[in-house]
Amino acid sequence: MEEYLDRILLSEDQIKKRVAQLGAQITEEYQGKDLLVIGILKGAVPFLADLIREIKLPLRYDFMAVSSYGASAKSSGEVRILKDLDSSIEDRHIIIVEDIVDTGLTLKYLQENLGRRKPLSMKIAALLDKPGRRRTEVYPNYNCFVIPDEFVVGYGLDYNEAYRNLPYIGALKPEVYTEQD
Ligand code: PRP
Ligand code: MN
Ligand code: MG
Repeated sequence: MEEYLDRILLSEDQIKKRVAQLGAQITEEYQGKDLLVIGILKGAVPFLADLIREIKLPLRYDFMAVSSYGASAKSSGEVRILKDLDSSIEDRHIIIVEDIVDTGLTLKYLQENLGRRKPLSMKIAALLDKPGRRRTEVYPNYNCFVIPDEFVVGYGLDYNEAYRNLPYIGALKPEVYTEQD
């Protein structure tokens, strides 16, 4: 294991199996429907890439990038769109794909913003749910794992943009993120 990790929370194999299950479930539920999968940059990329290949339907995917206004903004729930979708979602069945739901403020904003664009249906798929930190009523419709309130990295999740490419999810050693703050 890497020296900056306290422990591995979810192995590559555990993630792969759970993502395959979720893909099969979505495949069943969206039979005959025109599905658009929306990945939220950058954290959702590995999860989206694996999930879409487990959905055995003709789907399309698009990306959005959002960011909060500065450091205090995350807690205010104010979110800014850095990159919008390329096309309209009106009358489309959409699934928003996130790596993690933490406070829920990012998804709350996305739900409201995308909801106003009149999709036929809208669901949220998250790899990780950290309900201990929730600050608003938003819960994923599809979730792979519920995790405790720890600083996790890997499989898209970063600390200062690093560690996103780890093929598993690990808990960062506290000294790694306290040293630099
Ligand atoms: C992270 C994560 C989710 C969001 C969850 O993204 O990928 O998008 O935060 O946090 P919340 O529930 O408290 O809003 P981040 O803003 O760090 O951008 P990134 O995906 O580029 O890492
Ligand atoms: Mn993100
Ligand atoms: Mg991040």
